[in-house]
This record gives sequence, structure tokens and C-alpha cells, in this order.
Amino acid sequence: MEEERERWGSKFGFIMATMGSAVGLGNIWMFSYRCGRCGGAAFLIPYLIILFLVGIIGLMVEWTLGRKNKAGVLDSLINCGFPGGKYLGWIPIINVFLIFSFYAVIEGWCMKYMVMSLSGELMAIDPGPYFGNFVSSYEPLIWLAIGIIATVTINSFGVKKGIERACKFMMPLLLVLVVILMIRSLTLPGAEAGIAFFTKPDLSKITWDVWLNAAGQIFFSLSLVGSTMVVYGSYLRPKDDIPGSALIVALGNTAIALMCGFVIFPAVFSFGLDPASGPSLAFITLSSIFQQMVGGRFFAFLFFLLLFIAALSSDVSMMEPVTEVFVSHFKLGRKKVTLLLGFLAFLVGIPCALLGWFLDLLASVVTTMILAPIGGIIVAVALAWFVGVKHAREEVNEGASIKMGKWWEPYVKYIYPAIILVILILGILSCFGIFEATW
Ligand code: ALA
Repeated sequence: MEEERERWGSKFGFIMATMGSAVGLGNIWMFSYRCGRCGGAAFLIPYLIILFLVGIIGLMVEWTLGRKNKAGVLDSLINCGFPGGKYLGWIPIINVFLIFSFYAVIEGWCMKYMVMSLSGELMAIDPGPYFGNFVSSYEPLIWLAIGIIATVTINSFGVKKGIERACKFMMPLLLVLVVILMIRSLTLPGAEAGIAFFTKPDLSKITWDVWLNAAGQIFFSLSLVGSTMVVYGSYLRPKDDIPGSALIVALGNTAIALMCGFVIFPAVFSFGLDPASGPSLAFITLSSIFQQMVGGRFFAFLFFLLLFIAALSSDVSMMEPVTEVFVSHFKLGRKKVTLLLGFLAFLVGIPCALLGWFLDLLASVVTTMILAPIGGIIVAVALAWFVGVKHAREEVNEGASIKMGKWWEPYVKYIYPAIILVILILGILSCFGIFEATW
């Protein structure tokens, strides 16, 4: 049965849903380990530059294409006559489906650690070997299934009653949790070293690799994967303010990432641990910190709850472009589609849950550094070259509090896709070892 196209219920609801999509494991888990490995505060300089050059514009571009066509990426490409659109439109959709699947694995880890903090078990384990044994056992499959069930449940209720309603509850709670944890971390003895690591940049650390990491971080963190933000934009009303919302979401997302940095680095330095320990930072390093901290069990629970909420609200948004394509393009019922996608995501999640290298490859390189920029370029070219940059500017300015001037047209037509192309080329070169990058 065909379902009528939904709309966001309110501006606040849209901002919460979009923040829910943006603020995710990328802000807490990935941001902190990337920042830790890329020289702390030095990482923030390229991060902020790329945020303004690519991030904010990227949100506008993706939302505008979706709103203009009242469609997700596949139908938008078909509508605007993008050559091969009916095939190429699947690239960002497949990408987001892969993200939905691997993300649910880590969402599952968060739930496992949240339950362990609640029961007190976390306080008695040896974090390193425990995490190693956990991820090489079959147990993550159970948590993966629970993660997928949670995501599918929210998504099955639809845009307004499912995604928007859940995010309006989850995002304020997330903010409260970040603030409590930040206060706890900043008041630990020896927190100053962590604050300095995160605020005093050593400019010599800014290499090309750091730029590339920062670019990957912005794409992933703002969910600029060529499909999620297009479909979120397609639920906007003409009176909604695209540039103003892009600014709020980009800055809000960065503010949360920075606050998470102020949760993690002061604590890591206070306990004399390594900020550059990589992806295991959240699960191993922080677990050992919670074990030694006064009130550690309580704060561990809050932290893993935070991580879980962030993961869930983002995973819901990664599922939506795939759900939407089956609901709108193939005219299938949302409930059936979400169940089917949940099952398929579980199948794809199995190798991610069982093989660490596969998860790493998918999370750090394939989806983020290759498929996300390809999706970004496709969307930018579709909007600027096929919808037409003039029509695009009229659309982005419809309902806008800050109108985009004439400069926006050449920027979106040439500069924005060119920057993404450079990121894509460096990403591909790094896969072949021609360009040395740390993932
Ligand atoms: N934007 C989501 C994140 O940063 C995918 O985790």
C-alpha cells in the first residue's frame, strides 16, 4: 500500500532529528580517537576550516536537493535527469545501508557496556583483555540483534511519530548527560594536562593526513553521505529555513563534539593514559578510568548511555534513506520494509561483528573516505548542474533567515564538488598506500 509522503512536525523537531543524525559515535568515539591520534588541538584547526568550507554548505546542498524534488536521492536524480541516475542513485543508498549495519554493531557494544556498568560487572573486569575476548566471541551478535530491533522499532513508526518524536526526547537527554560528564571530567585532579592537549595546538602536527582525517570526520559526523540529509531535506516544508538550520546543526554538532573532547581528554590525562590509543579508546581506556574514578560505576553508566543514545539516533537516520526508497520508489509499506531491512542489516552486520578488520575497513575507509565523498559529489553535481544552480539558490533561499548571495552559485557548482573530489582522490590513494594516512 502506498503511504503518503510525510513531513517534519516542527522546526524544532527537524533540528532535533538532524542533530540526532549528526551527533553520533562520530562525535564521541571517532572524534576523540581521531583527535587523539592527530595531535589533539592541532586536529581542530583543519576540522573547523573544513566545517565552514564543506560542512555547512554540504548540509544546504543535500537538504535543498531533497526539498526541491520532495524525494530521496534516487528519485531526485531521476527527476532532475542526472545521467545514469537510476543506477548511480543506489551508491549513496547502499553506502548508508552499510553504515546502518556496521553502526548497529557498535550500538550493540554500547548497550553491552551500559548493562555492565549498571550491574557493576564493568568495575571488576580487566578492560583490555575483556574487550578483546568480547569482540572475538559470538556475543556481539546478540547485541547487534538488539541494536537493530531498537533502530527498526523507531524507524517503523515513521518520520514524525518515530524519528522526530524519539529524537525530541533523546537529544535533550544527551545534552544533559554530556554536561554532567564534562563537569565530572574537568574537576578530576590533573585534568589540566588534558585541557591543554585539547586546546593548545602544535601546528607542526597538521599534516595532509590530519587534513584528510578532519575531512572524513566532517562528512561522517554531519551525515553527509549523499542520502541521509537528502531524505531529511525531502521532509522539509517550503517555509523551513535551510541555511539557518544548517548553521545551527553544524555548530551544535561541533559543540557536542568539543564537549565530548572535554569529557574524554581530561579524564585520560588525569589517569595517565594514552590519548592516541585508537578505536578502543572508549571501551578500554575509558573503562579503566571509570574503574579508578570516585563514583565510576554511575559515571560509566551515564557515559555508555550517552554513547548508546547517540548511536541509536544516528542509526535511525542511516536506515531512513533505505526505508524511504522502498516506501516511495517501490511503493511498499513502511512496517514491512523496516522489518526486511532490519533482517538484511543483521546479515551484513554478522561479518562486521565477528571480524575486526572488516569492521575497521568498512567504518574507516570504504564508507567514510570513498563512498561518502562519491555520494557527496553526485548530489552536488545533480543540484548544481542538473537542477541548475539558479533554481537551487531560489530553493535554498525559500524560507531562509540568511539568504545566500550570488557567490553561492559558483561555489556550489565548482568549488564545493572540487573540494570533495580532492578528498576522494586522497582517500583512494591512501587505500593503495600511495598516500600515507592513519585510520
Ligand atoms: N553522523 C553520525 C555520526 O557522527 C553518523 O556518528
